[in-house]
Amino acid sequence: MISQKFTDFVSEIKRMKKEKNAIILAHYYQTGDIQDIADFVGDSLALSQKAASNNADIILFAGVKFMAETAKILAPDKKVLLPDINAGCSLADSCKAKDFKKFINDNPGRTVITYVNTTAEIKALSDISCTSSNAVQIVNSLPPEEKIIFAPDRNLGNYVLNKTGRDIVIWNGTCHVHEEFSLEAIIKLKEENKEAKVIVHPECELPVRMIADFIGSTSALLSFTKIDPSDCYIVATEPGIIHQMKKENPQKTYIPAPPRDSTCGCSECNFMKLITMEKIYRALKTEKPEINVNKKIITAAQKPIQRMLEISERLGL
Ligand code: 13P
Ligand code: SF4
Repeated sequence: MISQKFTDFVSEIKRMKKEKNAIILAHYYQTGDIQDIADFVGDSLALSQKAASNNADIILFAGVKFMAETAKILAPDKKVLLPDINAGCSLADSCKAKDFKKFINDNPGRTVITYVNTTAEIKALSDISCTSSNAVQIVNSLPPEEKIIFAPDRNLGNYVLNKTGRDIVIWNGTCHVHEEFSLEAIIKLKEENKEAKVIVHPECELPVRMIADFIGSTSALLSFTKIDPSDCYIVATEPGIIHQMKKENPQKTYIPAPPRDSTCGCSECNFMKLITMEKIYRALKTEKPEINVNKKIITAAQKPIQRMLEISERLGL
């Protein structure tokens, strides 16, 4: 049953959004109730595009810190709020600026492409940003002889390398959610549901990608389930995306792929799930926690993100 308190939070959030000219941007990995009150729901690329072009004075990010930082970099004059400052990312944490500078120095003459799942400092060291929606196309948009550094996700990097055949040196980072899917459990589920299609995010490990019927970013997985004629899917990404899949095609069945660690049994991102309705209410009310990025870093980090947005627009992504 929905409590009175929850209903009050929702109506106050709606009122304050109008009063303060604020918008809520939510990633697909947020809980369904948060996705439903957001002004815009999307994957990392769509959220960056939206952060770069909107008329709000305040952007409240229902997502994790690197996403809120990206919004601040793209819209430095706006106030950017993240309802829980501890909403980090294991993948972004796996690439520290000091170590990455050394990696770039050890691999000179390469174009540095980094996934948006990085800190603002890492973006400031990069030539082009990318997301899982456009990584292959961004690499392919460069001249064939151009040598590349790809960071921080080794699985996405490996996927891009296989798709493009380019000369790529890959940083050894991972996302603890996508790396944890159990190949054995997915195979067992597939045996029990023979008609199901296995759909996989490219941040997953190679053995899981190898048994996929389809590989794509969260928005690509969503689009696939919309147009594909199957009735059942085993979904190997954070299960928050299933909320949108059910909204599009409620008659279909979506089975979340299980992780190797059976004590929890679910593959939710603990960082994404730190954001709650109550925290959104408090953040809008107090206009805190606010995300601020050093001005020099903003200037340097704008270049790779803008380059990504320009290439994506040119390619119609
Ligand atoms: P996309 O939004 O690009 O699919 O990335 C998934 C992810 O792990 C975001 O944290
Ligand atoms: Fe980071 Fe992985 Fe969580 Fe995405 S799902 S925010 S990459 S830890």
